[in-house]
Amino acid sequence: MYRIGQEEIDAVARVIQSKNLFKINDAMHETEQCEALMREIFGAKRALLMTSGTGALTSALVGMGIGPGDEVVLPTYTYIATAMAVVAVGAIPVIADIDETYTLSPAAFEKKITPRTKCVIPVHIQGFPCNLDAICAIADAHGIFVLEDACQADGGSYKGRRLGTIGKAGALSFNQFKVISAGEGGAVLTDDDVLYQRALIYHDASAIAYFGNQLAGVTEPQFCGAELRTNEVAAAILHQQFLKLDGILGDLRKNKAALTARIESVCRIGASNDIEGDCGTTLPVVFDTEAKARDFCGRYGRGSFLPIDTGKHIYSHWTAIMETRGAFHPALDPFKHPANAPFVPDYKNEVFPVTQDMLSRSVFLPINPDWTEKELDEAAAAVRAAL
Ligand SMILES: Cc1ncc(COP(=O)(O)O)c(C=O)c1O
Repeated sequence: MYRIGQEEIDAVARVIQSKNLFKINDAMHETEQCEALMREIFGAKRALLMTSGTGALTSALVGMGIGPGDEVVLPTYTYIATAMAVVAVGAIPVIADIDETYTLSPAAFEKKITPRTKCVIPVHIQGFPCNLDAICAIADAHGIFVLEDACQADGGSYKGRRLGTIGKAGALSFNQFKVISAGEGGAVLTDDDVLYQRALIYHDASAIAYFGNQLAGVTEPQFCGAELRTNEVAAAILHQQFLKLDGILGDLRKNKAALTARIESVCRIGASNDIEGDCGTTLPVVFDTEAKARDFCGRYGRGSFLPIDTGKHIYSHWTAIMETRGAFHPALDPFKHPANAPFVPDYKNEVFPVTQDMLSRSVFLPINPDWTEKELDEAAAAVRAAL
């Protein structure tokens, strides 16, 4: 989260004064308004706010009808939640290597396709847009759904289209560490009515039938699901955050470009699938060796890091997945389900050369949207000094 202040305080105060904090109400309708704003910003037919990005990924997979017997391809470099959402619907995560853009390699994805592959989740990690042209073309050719994990890329775009709206569905996160935030939060974006209806039912299975007319126009039958419902306080904050989104992204991109211009003659900047659409949250710098990357990172400081050190963002640190414990009860464990058991990957022994190579000899420099020219000069001077 980058910018939060009086607008959010006033919005929350209005909700509290209305004494209507539940999302179905006759007062502020903050959730409805925020979803309407999201539809406008993203150009998506449907936007469904909820409590987390993990919930959004899970709801979207439920919406696609993914379940036991299905495989879902996702990259090595993403937060564990991406893989856990797949397991939550009873399917099997199949892990594929990244490429030099730090995002899912289309070629590696294609190699992992089997007759059981029903979905691929390209992850726009660190706000870096995936190669969606290539990924969507491969997915379309095989009848595979594309679910964009845009949880680290709220508002970013690829070739002029917002991330999360190019595949069949997209998931956003609004937790503390995202471009915009309400502390926690998430959303599903889609143009598909059936997917939306199923995600709607799943995310609020206990209350959907009993409050307001939320089932008006819903033709999908009700089924048991989860409770991932948002509330008016979170929606009021997010509404204000969405109004700030493009300003934040514009300044992040401006400062990322400005730092790049100041240092690109002295270091190698990581490749991008679409630098214009990139959220601009971090600038990747690539070194020849891990030792050089570590040395640089230690000298530069300023919140920089080697992606290989980011723990649960790297597949080998996904303990529950690596050790194939898919549920709290063995009978509910997708890794033990007869439809899946013969096809569970040997996660611990898989080798992903590009992941190991790129993540260990890259350093990510955080970008601040509020840097002044002087601060940009200081950051650039610090890069040169560290080099
Ligand atoms: C790539 C990615 N996917 C999914 C999630 C899950 O989002 P949340 O924490 O809102 O559940 C995160 C959160 O950090 C993430 O970084």
